[in-house]
Amino acid sequence: MIINDYATAEYWDRLYTQGRSYRPVTSLETELFQSLVQTKPGMTVVEIGCGTGEWARALASMGLSVTGYDLSGVAVAEATKLTEHDYGDLRFAEWDIHSATPPYRLVPQSVDIVTCRLTIAFLNREKFVKDAFRWLKPRGVLHIVTPVHEHLRPNEKHRGLTEQQISELSAGLEQTRYAVDLDRSITGLVLQQSA
Ligand SMILES: C[S@@+](CC[C@H](N)C(=O)[O-])C[C@H]1O[C@@H](n2cnc3c(N)ncnc32)[C@H](O)[C@@H]1O
Repeated sequence: MIINDYATAEYWDRLYTQGRSYRPVTSLETELFQSLVQTKPGMTVVEIGCGTGEWARALASMGLSVTGYDLSGVAVAEATKLTEHDYGDLRFAEWDIHSATPPYRLVPQSVDIVTCRLTIAFLNREKFVKDAFRWLKPRGVLHIVTPVHEHLRPNEKHRGLTEQQISELSAGLEQTRYAVDLDRSITGLVLQQSA
């Protein structure tokens, strides 16, 4: 029997204990994000599946107020350690977004931007998008970066969303889609409720 254990903290803890890291954040990625999301200093951001926090630190360096959540305690401990030096307004907490109880900070309509980088393939997408728009202020932005299934090698396919799944994510929402890398294997989505 094949057991899909991506949904467990143990799976991710094991990888992070082995020193696992993911695609480094590039300057192109941060520039595209800033220009497409039109960030302003002081905006509040929730980063879901933050891992060891590289993207969260990049966001805090833009002057944003960032909270990163991850279900892996090992990743959150490492993210917190790497952020000992001053990265601005930034914090991390352990939280499985599929659990019933949300963190006390995540009150409805309190957040300007929700981001989710290289993580959505491991989440219950429908629930995540619904939750994100509940946390967001009325014109808040849901920003997703995901590998595209069709462009991945066979052993990496589980990390990406298919083109069909990407279109389903944006159904009924205003959408800007862009390529995060030159070979278009990683896509970015900026999603908003219609004005
Ligand atoms: C491929 S890694 C990406 C990490 C980071 N976003 C990056 O860009 O380097 C996926 C991350 O999602 C986290 N994750 C998976 N399922 C989760 C869940 N249900 N709730 C919170 N985090 C989750 C994992 O622990 C892991 O850190």
